[in-house]
Amino acid sequence: MSAQRPAELPRFPLAQWIYEHRHLPHDLGQSGMHGELRSLAGLLRDAPPATPEELRALFARQQRVPVERMFLTHGATEANTLVLLHLARTGRPRGPRRARFEWPEYPPLRDAAKLVGLRPVSAGTPAEIAILSNPSNPEGRLRSAEEVRRFAAGAEHLLVDETFREFTDAAPLRERPGPRLWRTGSLTKAYGADELRVGFVVAPTGEEERFQSTHWLIDGVPAASASAAVALLSHQSTVLAETRRLFQRNLAALRDAEPDAPQLAAPLWFDRVGGPQGGDRLAHRAARHGVLVCPGSFFGDPSGVRVSLTRSDFPESLAAYLGVRQGSPSPMRPGAARRRRTG
Ligand SMILES: Cc1ncc(COP(=O)(O)O)c(C=O)c1O
Repeated sequence: MSAQRPAELPRFPLAQWIYEHRHLPHDLGQSGMHGELRSLAGLLRDAPPATPEELRALFARQQRVPVERMFLTHGATEANTLVLLHLARTGRPRGPRRARFEWPEYPPLRDAAKLVGLRPVSAGTPAEIAILSNPSNPEGRLRSAEEVRRFAAGAEHLLVDETFREFTDAAPLRERPGPRLWRTGSLTKAYGADELRVGFVVAPTGEEERFQSTHWLIDGVPAASASAAVALLSHQSTVLAETRRLFQRNLAALRDAEPDAPQLAAPLWFDRVGGPQGGDRLAHRAARHGVLVCPGSFFGDPSGVRVSLTRSDFPESLAAYLGVRQGSPSPMRPGAARRRRTG
């Protein structure tokens, strides 16, 4: 029997791009905080036992929703996919339902929507479902409640992926009259806790019972993950303080180098370099010079590249990236390659 090696397992295209370049010395591609937070190690090692129900109750308290509306998942990817599956199968029987996006946007949201039979359409087009990440991946932009409302106008449902929300103290989006609000989140970004595989869905008021029948599909979160997640959330202020310190330090380095960079609410910057394929060409050139950034075409906008501000060596990697962008790359140091997990 020929077992596939991990490198050969299928991944979604953006993750594949990151994974294929994980040996590069300057990593501005990973959007996760895995391995960056010192406060995590002790917390996870010494986590007292806790049940998934306790974790669910804690998430519900922190998100200020009744526990019946809180559903645990193995991360935001699963949370988004479950919500989309639910909306696709509970829709009207006539024709595919439409899902509205504004580009650039995090590609698995669109890919999952297509996979469950929804038809992606662009902002401003009539649609039953409106979908966005907020703050957005790849732009790090936080839309106000009013902007979100305008984007979702006329839809029946609104899915907001808030995976990056806790890099600042922005409040979760609140339910309002209009489209029914589904929110998702994860411990893989601001909490840097990839290995726990814990995320959640907040279902809209009145949809919790129907969603139960879709959520039933997934296996429960293991007790070990629940225990570690409860420990992490119980020390939320310590962990998030470390995350935000790193983010703010990296943001200051970006502002020093690029005073015109937009206001960011998440460690993601979409650098529009111009030209219809300018971003993709730059990402390939950067990779040849030891710098990993993500081509904008993955996000539906090939004119730019996504630069992540999550790593502690960001200032040095940013300088290397800007060198490539300006046409004067710094020479690659021999043996500078490193190994990191794909985030
Ligand atoms: C907007 C957004 N949602 C979801 C995810 C994936 O989250 P998880 O690792 O919890 O599945 C990512 C990862 O980059 C993301 O950027």
